[in-house]
Amino acid sequence: MTSFFVSKCGPLRGKVAINGAKNSVLPIMAASLLSDGISTLGDVPLLEDVKVMCELLGHFGSSLRMEGKRLQIDNSRIQPAPAPYDLVRKMRASFLIMGPLLSRFGNVKISLPGGCAIGTRPIDLHLKGLAVMGADITLGHGYIEASADKLTGDRVYLDFPSVGATENLIMAAALADGLTTIENAAEEPEIIDLANFINSMGGHVRGAGTDTIKVEGVRQLSGCNHTIIPDRIEAGTLMVAAAITGGDIILTNVISDHLRPVEAKLKEAGIQIDSVEEGIRVYKNGSLHTLDLKTLPYPGFPTDMQAQMMAFMCTLPGTSMITETVFENRFMHASELKRLGAKIRIEGRSAVVEGVDRLQGAQVKATDLRAGAALLLAGMVAEGSTEIVDIHHIDRGYENIEEKLRSLGADIIRHEY
Ligand code: UD1
Repeated sequence: MTSFFVSKCGPLRGKVAINGAKNSVLPIMAASLLSDGISTLGDVPLLEDVKVMCELLGHFGSSLRMEGKRLQIDNSRIQPAPAPYDLVRKMRASFLIMGPLLSRFGNVKISLPGGCAIGTRPIDLHLKGLAVMGADITLGHGYIEASADKLTGDRVYLDFPSVGATENLIMAAALADGLTTIENAAEEPEIIDLANFINSMGGHVRGAGTDTIKVEGVRQLSGCNHTIIPDRIEAGTLMVAAAITGGDIILTNVISDHLRPVEAKLKEAGIQIDSVEEGIRVYKNGSLHTLDLKTLPYPGFPTDMQAQMMAFMCTLPGTSMITETVFENRFMHASELKRLGAKIRIEGRSAVVEGVDRLQGAQVKATDLRAGAALLLAGMVAEGSTEIVDIHHIDRGYENIEEKLRSLGADIIRHEY
């Protein structure tokens, strides 16, 4: 078992660089399966989820080589094989191999996905879209099998702008016959990164970043070089770290446009955020205020920053409120924050957070990735010491987060039992 011991620290100060985005690199690794060439990815974060995706690609015969932050994927010897439960259950994003494998080989069999316990997280939209494109889909014994002699482009309307479904359908459409139009598509920056990657492979994806994406299928794609965009959620988490400790930090390797929703809410709470030559400066300068926020698909406030903002709200004077509209069960961190002395009331999809004068260290559990990040943030301002257990969830999405925070002045120790 591995835990973090977090002691109360002073205001964070200094400069850190943001890693490549977890939610970009995973679909892009899956998309590499669309070609039998060699793709090289730059700025790949060294995360547990990336390791799982490497294992999964290795299972199909990809040969992977990591040098520093560069990942080379050679797909010349791919053989489609059923994706087993023990790999797929570790990470929901494993399901992203469905679109590319189906599109390239005409058949794919994959165990039903696992991942963070933040709701039921169905995959109906992925399957509905693939069926519209001509896939024959069967479910049985915990596996989904999809087959199609040749996927055919069509018009697919998503009932909800699901990130994963949009990505799976773009990948499926990349080698399909004719034009696929995805309506009510997700608009997240990671979708644009995926589209840019596929276009560098020789694909034809237009409109990524808007709600209508058009993919003209091509006969063949080749390997390419691509650099992953910076992780807006890692950046947002560090922005909250500066805010909650009353610090003053500079983040480099950021795309500020992707941070607009987080920036807007932190500014509303009284945090200063300036564009500087190297990136952005986040600092406290004056009094803080309560805030209300609602999570929404991009460009709304990201659900992946909700838990971290809740930790921050616990320290604001007065009552703040969060409405979670993306996932139906994403408040598990509230009961852990309460163990640190937070005052939070959950009412359906809303959380009412009453600021407290001080949080107190205790033993708490990371129930999912971002919940773990929220506990790290709260631990940095709680009196005494906080032990966070089950930190494998945190390692799924943050590379050496404790080192990064320590370089800014935090007091965090990783402890292996
Ligand atoms: C991705 C991100 C995750 C983020 C989420 C929302 C990756 C690897 N993960 O997850 O970090 O929290 O977007 O921004 O990129 N839904 C359905 N049916 C479906 C698919 C989704 O009902 O077929 C629902 C889900 O249950 C959820 C909502 O749609 O309530 C959003 O899910 P989705 O956008 O698909 O998230 P993921 O792609 O799983």
